[in-house]
Amino acid sequence: MALTVKEKIDELRKKNAEALLCGGADKIEAQHKRGKLSARERLQLLFDNGYYDEFNKFVENSGRKISSVAGRKMPGDGMVTAVGPVDGRLVYAASQDFTVMGGSLGEMHAWKMVEAMLKALKNGVPFIAINDSGGARIQEAIFSLRGYGDVFFQNTALSGVVPQISIIAGPCAGGAAYSPALMDFIIMVKGTGKLFITGPAVIKGVTGEVVTDEELGGAMAHATTSGNIHFVAENDHHAIQIAKQLLSYLPSNNTETAPRVGDGSINLIEYPDLNTIIPDDAREAYNMLDVINRVVDPGSVLEVKQFWARNVITCFARINGQTVGIIANQPNFKAGCLDIDASDKASEHIRFCNAFNIPIITFVDVPGFLPGVQQEFGGIIRHGAKMLFSYSAATVPKITIVVRKAYGGAYLAMCAKSLGADRTAAWPTAEIAVMGAEGAVNVLYAKEIKGASDPAAKKKELINEYEGRWVTPYPAAEFGLVDAVIEPVKTREYISVALETLKNKRELRPEKKHGLIPM
Ligand code: HXC
Repeated sequence: MALTVKEKIDELRKKNAEALLCGGADKIEAQHKRGKLSARERLQLLFDNGYYDEFNKFVENSGRKISSVAGRKMPGDGMVTAVGPVDGRLVYAASQDFTVMGGSLGEMHAWKMVEAMLKALKNGVPFIAINDSGGARIQEAIFSLRGYGDVFFQNTALSGVVPQISIIAGPCAGGAAYSPALMDFIIMVKGTGKLFITGPAVIKGVTGEVVTDEELGGAMAHATTSGNIHFVAENDHHAIQIAKQLLSYLPSNNTETAPRVGDGSINLIEYPDLNTIIPDDAREAYNMLDVINRVVDPGSVLEVKQFWARNVITCFARINGQTVGIIANQPNFKAGCLDIDASDKASEHIRFCNAFNIPIITFVDVPGFLPGVQQEFGGIIRHGAKMLFSYSAATVPKITIVVRKAYGGAYLAMCAKSLGADRTAAWPTAEIAVMGAEGAVNVLYAKEIKGASDPAAKKKELINEYEGRWVTPYPAAEFGLVDAVIEPVKTREYISVALETLKNKRELRPEKKHGLIPM
């Protein structure tokens, strides 16, 4: 006999309750014991007031004949997909459920994730993936493999259209690691997050190297050594907090500008000690973050890849409530030189900001590209070229502040006017030149120094002379290579005015399929 309406409603309620049990209460408990939240608990934390609209909840394992687990109950196929508000703006999310077959990716699991991505794309809102998975569901064989391919394809389709954030909150090994790598930002949880292509056991078998999974693929390994991830989180709560903070700087898609915080009024705060941050001795280091923090809105800096390639700082911040992307040399590390990793880090940030209409501010204190055989053999030419390409190709407002050293090709690579900077100011401490005084004097006056009665004194005299004439901002200002020389304390005012006057910037380039960035 057909079910009554009440029975039908009861059946639905039962199905809903079963789905919410995930892989079972014992599996959820095991997840908690590992220090991890369940897939839905993570979503509750992400969305405002824990509210989200879950879709495809009743999707089950595909039951393909090829699979030895066909017919086994797998609630949601180990994947929870939902849409909901984060700080009032919609976000789509896909959260892997480790309590169902270790969150492994089967055919329907992948299909659900792809559906969520397509919805994010169609609606022009960010996509967040929370990874906690044993990788390809081995029993589903080639269907898992195809599923990964479909996910990678959609990651690429979303790239540059909506922001994509990946949270690694559990294992993410093998080919699975490539979906986060194709996304814009990776936030990784210390201790529980594990990210590698081949794990310690395989590595030991193939190369004989002995390494633990934490040393190889833990959050700090990636944050400090491989540079694969952007943020480190202490636990799941912290990871989601970082994701929300990051979203607050970003527009929902590439046709929008980032949301402005506050009432849009211009606040020209001045920090008098900006005028004394640069040491009298140009060889002395200082912390560039002290400069940035005295220019942007108080407390607004969010560093990206904070622990990797520390000779360059990449961050988001706000000026008068408006999101800006910042690239800055850090004299505290490797004297702020540009090397392979710093070039990659800066280029990635420039390209993200340009894709999502975020103005770029560049603070320059660069003695040059890092010399060394390793750098040359490692392809510094190719990597440094990425910066030249990224800045030149970027059409968002570009504002450059030359704080101190700005030498040679590295000066150009830090968004010099010739690379399309819309506004360029130099501090009176700026040294804009082809090379440092000593190097220049050695080349230009070798014979004169050698023939002098006191060569050391002669050299010193020539260096002083050269420094006074050429190692200042004024030759650049005289020839229009910088628009202005400003007091450090006026930097916020300079940038505020520049941002306002560049608000309607439109820069059209010849149409092409895409440029060929050096790889
Ligand atoms: C099917 C899997 C699975 C997988 C885990 N499980 N990984 N089932 N396919 N890939 C199941 C386990 O059998 C177990 O089922 C449950 O999930 C929980 O796993 P445990 O091992 O008990 O958990 P834990 O001790 O925390 O270890 C987690 C783990 C480990 C580190 C992820 O399970 C593991 O090493 N799994 C295999 C990883 C792997 O080799 N994946 C394939 C990679 S190849 P029960 O029923 O006991 O609860 C790949 C290629 C993709 O991904 C290529 C794409 C381009």
